[in-house]
Amino acid sequence: MNRRNTLAALLASALLAAGGGAHAQAKLKVGVMLPFTGTYAALGTAIDNGFKLYVQEQGGKLGGREIEYVVVDDESDPAKATDNVNKLINRDKVDVVVGTVHSGVAMAMAKVARDSNTLLMVPNAGADAVTGPMCAQNIFRSSFSNWQPGFAMGKVAAERKHKTAVTITWKYAAGAESVGGFKEAFEKGGGKVLNDLTVPFPNVEFQALLTEIAALKPDIVYAFFAGGGAVKFVKDYAAAGLNKSIPLYGPGFLTDGTLEAQGDAAQGMLTTLHYADSLNTPRDDAFRLAYVKAYKMQPDVYAVQGYDAAQMLAIGLKAVKGDLGKRAEFAAAIEKATIDSPRGPFKISKAHNPVQDIYLRKVDGKQNKAVGVAIKALADPARGCRM
Ligand code: BEZ
Repeated sequence: MNRRNTLAALLASALLAAGGGAHAQAKLKVGVMLPFTGTYAALGTAIDNGFKLYVQEQGGKLGGREIEYVVVDDESDPAKATDNVNKLINRDKVDVVVGTVHSGVAMAMAKVARDSNTLLMVPNAGADAVTGPMCAQNIFRSSFSNWQPGFAMGKVAAERKHKTAVTITWKYAAGAESVGGFKEAFEKGGGKVLNDLTVPFPNVEFQALLTEIAALKPDIVYAFFAGGGAVKFVKDYAAAGLNKSIPLYGPGFLTDGTLEAQGDAAQGMLTTLHYADSLNTPRDDAFRLAYVKAYKMQPDVYAVQGYDAAQMLAIGLKAVKGDLGKRAEFAAAIEKATIDSPRGPFKISKAHNPVQDIYLRKVDGKQNKAVGVAIKALADPARGCRM
């Protein structure tokens, strides 16, 4: 062995003796794939903010490894998703991918993650398939399945003795699955869905469908929209005067992070979601204070999901001392953990989706105030997951 090799060997054994190993010393490359343009841009930014806030609170390291980010704007475009995620994995050589918001994009990401055994943390997209038929040891979700808030709202609507509903949404997986969850619980509780209306994603031309709703005269409308589209829909619904006679219900995405722009049009609306603005717990208060200090704006559900994706990653990394090669130990640590989330503590199901309380919220001024718990510890049915 020459002198240079001897020195390198000495250095390596010193690092190992320090308890880290080679993996613990290298930076952890995090591929962040989120929408930063288009109707979901604000959602992507909030997730990114939340994730980075948690990392900053840990001194910029998770599992002993410093974090380096590679960021991609996925534009909520499923047609570009496979290329985008492949670039992160093959060109940028990221250790983990965090993303995304749009269910169609997330399904393409999950397929690549499964095929390449890349670690994937999903901080929003609710595509039921991700923790259903596509579930895998290396795929985790810190948010919800589309079924969860929809099912909770169906139960609430039936309990409130509404008999008929019309649903309206964008025509893609998230809308269809949210409506599916709503319908399942609403019809089980004695309600009937008269018609399912859709517009292509991300269109916001709602007038013809609002006219159809007025003609159908249901007891209620259930709508899934989010981001910029939710702002436009809630405002158009009120401008058409429909909110006076037909209450508008939805999953909380309809009013989360959007109240500033929706103003009076959203007042009094009831929604169901795994987060609310007025939880008043020490954990949530501390998170909200830190978020406002860091970003000069209020957090929303998307910020919480980003924060919790980082927390889940930290739990796994800590268990394997930064060595992501130890996949089984990484997964086992997250599976047995209780995540100390601002939304309230939650656990991860066998399919790697949160088992969580779904709040009933009412819009009051600029807040989605919790007025009760629609369903406690709701687990997604994970239909088709074999793990
Ligand atoms: C989705 O595509 O899964 C989604 C997008 C925005 C809010 C909620 C769900």
